[in-house]
Amino acid sequence: MRVTKSVREYETVRGANAAIGAGVDCVLYRGDCFDLLSGLPDASVDLVITSPPYCLGMEYERATTVQDFILAHEKILPEVIRVTKPGGSICWQVGNHISKQAVYPLDYAVFALLEGRKEVSLRNRIIWSFAHGLHGTSRFSGRYETLLWYTKGDQYFFDLDAVRVPQKYPGKRHYKGPTKGEFSGNPLGKNPGDVWDIPNVKGNHVEKVGHPCQFPVALVQRAVRAFCPQGGVVLDPFMGSGSAGVAALVEQRRFLGAEYHKKYFGLAADRLKKTAVGKAIFRPLERPILTPNPRSQVAIVPPHFRVAAE
Ligand SMILES: C[S@@+](CC[C@H](N)C(=O)[O-])C[C@H]1O[C@@H](n2cnc3c(N)ncnc32)[C@H](O)[C@@H]1O
Repeated sequence: MRVTKSVREYETVRGANAAIGAGVDCVLYRGDCFDLLSGLPDASVDLVITSPPYCLGMEYERATTVQDFILAHEKILPEVIRVTKPGGSICWQVGNHISKQAVYPLDYAVFALLEGRKEVSLRNRIIWSFAHGLHGTSRFSGRYETLLWYTKGDQYFFDLDAVRVPQKYPGKRHYKGPTKGEFSGNPLGKNPGDVWDIPNVKGNHVEKVGHPCQFPVALVQRAVRAFCPQGGVVLDPFMGSGSAGVAALVEQRRFLGAEYHKKYFGLAADRLKKTAVGKAIFRPLERPILTPNPRSQVAIVPPHFRVAAE
């Protein structure tokens, strides 16, 4: 297996397209993803996975309303469908748009825009849950976002065995009937389900490189293993710090990413060059998540509280 991979940076759409066509492992386009997409040939990508701007007025976005989000998506989604291969997948990861503490789930908007498109079908609405984030005071703290998994066509690539997780009771056997005594579960592990509990990249997470909304590499890794064949092309049109690229290269797929913000493009390029020589830093998908002991104290109770409770 070749360890060192080729990473190339481009500021022209033509250069980026030629490189991906020539089999370069990782092609990074610095510029607007709309330009990159419009230059890509039809049916050239196996998996599109991305987290677009939520139009919350972050450092990297000018748009601030749900209407802005919808307008941008009316433009980009048809292009994304066009460049996806038949049998390929589109994973669109979004959270909520929040305005005056009112929540608008952005996947509703994406679903509404794609509902009438016959080329794609929604296969799962995956809940990505995580433990950390802002603490709400006027509503419950938001602890999940969604990943809409669409396929282009009904004959699609899906490698479930590549993403199975350990059974809860691996030795369990059928206790009656013709299969009595045989293992009742799949020996390769169970289907991970549509709720993915994967730590988000906050605070001291090992993957933090300075982008405010990084994908955990593990989230993309599971999608890449399940939805993209070995050697296939993964596209992230809003790649930010390049987390999808790290996952793609680590999993022996090729990557094409766009980012228009100079600082984030630099972060992505640095990370991917390290990944290309086998020096990616990421939290493995298989690493267990720390769960607090339910019998442990929630906090150190102040003495006056203890007196009141006793
Ligand atoms: C939600 S962030 C994605 C973060 C990414 N998933 C990661 O792991 O770092 C969206 C990114 O898209 C970039 N962006 C927004 N509009 C863009 C456009 N039209 N073309 C290229 N990049 C864009 C922003 O600068 C931002 O870094």
